[in-house]
Amino acid sequence: MKSKPDTKGAIPADTGDRIAAPDAGEEDVALDFSLRPRTLGEFIGQERLKRVLGMSIEAARKRSEVLDHVLFAGPPGLGKTSLAHIIARELGVNLRVTSGPAIERAGDLAAIVADLEKGDVLFIDEIHRLARVVEEILYPAMEDYELNIVVGKGPSARTMKLAVKPFTLVGATTRSGLLSSPLRDRFGQHFHLEFYAHDELSEIVRRSAHLLGVKVHDEGAREIASRARGTPRIANRLLRRVRDFAQVNDAPMVTRDVALGALELLEIDHCGFDKMDRAILATIIDKFDGGPVGVDSLAAAVGEESDTIEEVYEPFLLQEGFIARTSRGRVATPRAYSHLGRTRRGTLF
Ligand SMILES: Nc1ncnc2c1ncn2[C@@H]1O[C@H](COP(=O)(O)OP(=O)(O)OP(=O)(O)O)[C@@H](O)[C@H]1O
Ligand SMILES: [Mg+2]
Repeated sequence: MKSKPDTKGAIPADTGDRIAAPDAGEEDVALDFSLRPRTLGEFIGQERLKRVLGMSIEAARKRSEVLDHVLFAGPPGLGKTSLAHIIARELGVNLRVTSGPAIERAGDLAAIVADLEKGDVLFIDEIHRLARVVEEILYPAMEDYELNIVVGKGPSARTMKLAVKPFTLVGATTRSGLLSSPLRDRFGQHFHLEFYAHDELSEIVRRSAHLLGVKVHDEGAREIASRARGTPRIANRLLRRVRDFAQVNDAPMVTRDVALGALELLEIDHCGFDKMDRAILATIIDKFDGGPVGVDSLAAAVGEESDTIEEVYEPFLLQEGFIARTSRGRVATPRAYSHLGRTRRGTLF
């Protein structure tokens, strides 16, 4: 059993307005929709993924076959939902959207699957959160296009097989490690989305600015891109805030200075870290002497859920080399110390 983490001495973190959090807030939903790339051609970055996916879409279309099931894994805000929409659009088929937590009973999923037309795309977001009994409906549906439906209860219960039309399941998950292996194995195509490079994010900022009617200098776009934690959703959110800043300051154009002014006000530092990122680093260093510290203790100390730490904050801090994961927990790396202007005690890292 996990012991309850110690919450004494927690560093209060401002979680109210999380400008750098990659998960979608209410405000983002409309923006996500309006700025979402509609075709693979409009989708910037993830070059290898686009090539492989583009090829299998084209092949399926040419052979008039149903596309193999696709799994997208990766941190929030990198384009998984956008890609699911793009697949259906490029195939010219209907898209049915649902999510793991939204499906409560096996029968609900069976009804959705039974209703699909040949070649349709069924998108299940947060697929790692499907209940086990619901998930089991998917196994024969994905493999043999068949539903096993239990009719009746108790000793008279029997299983009926119901054929469904061939379809493509597109699953998205921020936690591929939580996916059961029978489910994972039934996807013919697995793609892991990577954080975006600064150049790609600059292009995304310029594209979004154009769609929103915001005038932005290349250097302004680059400044926003370099602080977006490798994440398009954050780049778009920062752009919106910078636009507000430009407006109240009567700036006709988002120049580098305008972007810098806004980002400073938002307390986003040059690495794209906000207060919570810095609280995480500072806590590991100051409260846990640089680590190792378990994620539950860390979460309690910064006043955040452990799942959120693992899903939302940690991936970027790990990829950028500010923290490292060891078998005994997270440790702060020398980069974290120098970023916060701390000197390290002890000699070993
Ligand atoms: N490659 C891209 N090119 C341009 N814009 C992008 C790209 N990827 C994502 N975006 C932008 O970022 C927003 C968020 O992307 P999306 O909703 O697809 O992310 P997600 O991976 O599904 O996130 P979550 O895990 O939170 O569901 C999109 O609406 C779009 O505006
Ligand atoms: Mg999504």
